Amino acid sequence: MTTAFAPAVVRADSLPDSIKVEQLTCAIGAEISNVNLGVASRDPETMVEIRSLLLKHRVLFFRDQDITRPEHVAFARHFGELTEHPYAPADPDAPGLQRIYKSPESPDGAGRYESAWHSDATWREQPPLGCVLRCVECPPVGGDTMWANMVLAYEGLPEHIKTQIADLRASHSLQSSFGAVQPIEKRLALKAQYPDAEHPVVRTHPETGEKVLFVSAYATHFTNFHTPANVRYGMDHAPGASQLLQYLISRAFIPEYQVRFRWKPNSVAMWDNRSTQHLAVMDYPPCHRKMERAEIIGEAVF
Ligand code: SIN
Repeated sequence: MTTAFAPAVVRADSLPDSIKVEQLTCAIGAEISNVNLGVASRDPETMVEIRSLLLKHRVLFFRDQDITRPEHVAFARHFGELTEHPYAPADPDAPGLQRIYKSPESPDGAGRYESAWHSDATWREQPPLGCVLRCVECPPVGGDTMWANMVLAYEGLPEHIKTQIADLRASHSLQSSFGAVQPIEKRLALKAQYPDAEHPVVRTHPETGEKVLFVSAYATHFTNFHTPANVRYGMDHAPGASQLLQYLISRAFIPEYQVRFRWKPNSVAMWDNRSTQHLAVMDYPPCHRKMERAEIIGEAVF
């Protein structure tokens, strides 16, 4: 274990002017204060610092960000191009922003599909680098979001499991999650537009070189498990594959790898989607919850 309990407090005097960093758990997450993201997005030096804090803490929280939608987009654009999402409508007034608005009138009730641990959009060949999520309206209680450190989740695996999964690959599907609630015609159209993607089960973080456990709710099966080493007669050992996949997916559920964030209007979270998973806790219906998200295009996974 290398990164679990290392002190992660960044010295204030190493930061531009007055940025303050408060680590929230031993594993993941820091609250950053004395910074306005609208101003920061016009200051390259602050953006370099925020990028390095993101790599260190994996999810950053900012309170009281009364920023405009163009400022939200401009901040996220420092990290890369933004993408759209088939189930989060684009904001017509702010290209690049996705609306995640939940209410009892939402087409899906209140979007119960969110209650699963996942890295965003791993059904893409190039899953997002990260997201910048801002709270516009939140329920009086509930509607928190949780994140898990998937580098720690990898490091915490028994050595024989690390060896077993070293070269495994998994298929990731949009159909089996968002698509599953659609009529078959829509689901097949979705499949044609967003074909399944295949990724290594253990990815290497492109900026830090860390190993990351990279299967979550979108992963449906291993694509290369049934080798002569695993199978004797037909698919006799096939159940081992799905049990192993479920075991790996369940590593994100361990509290010691997690942080939980209580939203207020104008709170912002930014996460590194390459080394974390998250879960939006769906405990607030029939209340409303309105979030706006900028999703940054990432790299191919190795
Ligand atoms: C997401 O999964 O990106 C949304 C998280 C949230 O709404 O809290």
